[in-house]
Amino acid sequence: MKESIQKAQILVEAFPYIKQWSGRTVVVKYGGSTRGGVEELKNTLQDIVLMKFVGMRPVVVHGGGKDITRAMEKLGLPSKFVDGLRVTDLPAMKVVEKVLGGKINKQLVALIHQLGGKAVGLSGKDAAMLQASRIKSKSGKDIGFVGKVAKVNTAVLQSMDREKFIPVIAPMGLGKDGHTYNVNADEAAGAIAGALKAEKLVFLTDVPGICRKKDDPKTLLSTIRAREVPKLLKNGVISGGMIPKIEACLHALMSGVHKTHIIDGTLPHALLLEIFTPQGVGTEIVP
Ligand SMILES: Nc1ncnc2c1ncn2[C@@H]1O[C@H](COP(=O)(O)OP(=O)(O)OP(=O)(O)O)[C@@H](O)[C@H]1O
Ligand SMILES: [Mg+2]
Repeated sequence: MKESIQKAQILVEAFPYIKQWSGRTVVVKYGGSTRGGVEELKNTLQDIVLMKFVGMRPVVVHGGGKDITRAMEKLGLPSKFVDGLRVTDLPAMKVVEKVLGGKINKQLVALIHQLGGKAVGLSGKDAAMLQASRIKSKSGKDIGFVGKVAKVNTAVLQSMDREKFIPVIAPMGLGKDGHTYNVNADEAAGAIAGALKAEKLVFLTDVPGICRKKDDPKTLLSTIRAREVPKLLKNGVISGGMIPKIEACLHALMSGVHKTHIIDGTLPHALLLEIFTPQGVGTEIVP
């Protein structure tokens, strides 16, 4: 009995948050690096299904760099990176499309249904949601079919919202030339959040958030203001995979998203903790 009363108490405590968040859009980028076992994945997706059922509008964007590298290895294709971007020639693009659009995307969709939710898997190519334009590396090198998001067409997301589907998006874009482009998942999430004027953009990754010392969770920065970011980039506190995340956060904030977060996706129910508790978790990046 005592346990049941405690459970009821938790529901009552969550109520103001549920009410506050009803109807709000939250874009969640699910990092490939957080892909542990299926149980861990289900844990995250369960939170997303619950968010949808209490009236929120979650939109999922996923990564998958590690799976792509593994799949390329199996085919004897080397993974080459220039300035942090994957060199994506035609054979590599085929693997990217298969792994992101085929394997990971459909696995997430299937699990959401298994957990009682409704999801539709899309790539940025569908309904020309993500229009991509070809980019070069920072040092000016040609890196193949790698694109930046030139435009987001949210029409398909709105139609899915009417039918209460959770959109699950693989980060690929359609070029004006008709080619498929590999788009950074963090950038895609930031662009989609901005275009939807989402309330929040949340990155689920494999570390507790942005730490002053990269490998020391005790140095976690719980709040970062947008104006502090250039210095953190310049002095190397933010490096590697964190760079596109923070850039996506800045883009989203400039486009009217209220708050952006980088949190530990390996922590059970990290998303619910972030949204339905006053403390929150990880790093928030605010205007
Ligand atoms: N200041 C920092 N604090 C914490 N982590 C940092 C910092 N700077 C760089 N990192 C690195 O960023 C990584 C997270 O980005 P990464 O691209 O590896 O994962 P992801 O984006 O979640 O997954 P994927 O790219 O597969 O979608 C961390 O594992 C860490 O090594
Ligand atoms: Mg990454």
